[in-house]
Amino acid sequence: MVKILVIHGPNLNLLGKRQPNIYGRFSLEEINQQLKKLAEKEKIGLEFLQSNHEGEIVDAIGKAKDRFSALLINPAAYTHTSVAIRDAIAACELPTVEVHLSNIYAREEFRHTSLIAPVAQGQVSGFGINSYLLGLQAAINLAKVKK
Ligand code: DQA
Repeated sequence: MVKILVIHGPNLNLLGKRQPNIYGRFSLEEINQQLKKLAEKEKIGLEFLQSNHEGEIVDAIGKAKDRFSALLINPAAYTHTSVAIRDAIAACELPTVEVHLSNIYAREEFRHTSLIAPVAQGQVSGFGINSYLLGLQAAINLAKVKK
């Protein structure tokens, strides 16, 4: 069975309460439920990780190669800072889709640079929960081709 690892970076555990004008009113649990629904429809498996710790995310990506067919990641603040997560994605060679709830290019200048984008297959940014759903659909298509 095609399996995709969904990674949520730092502070995304606070979704729903955290700056809802920017990130929307869905909690992380509600986002994961919507992703699960799409996964069931597409008959694929999902696993979820939310972590506020860069090393934990690096470790999970490092172990993903043989267990998953693709990655869906919202690296959150690490998008703009983490060479370590970028290198882990490059090393694992899994097709990776980067997603953001907000449009990072319409916000502060420091958010305009993604260190992850060059090692991702593509990026979806600015559509709230739909960024995740569109991103998962893209990851599923990539995973099915790869399999
Ligand atoms: C985010 C955008 C990042 O700049 C920010 O640090 C986040 C969330 C988004 O989903 O819009 O934590 O990745």
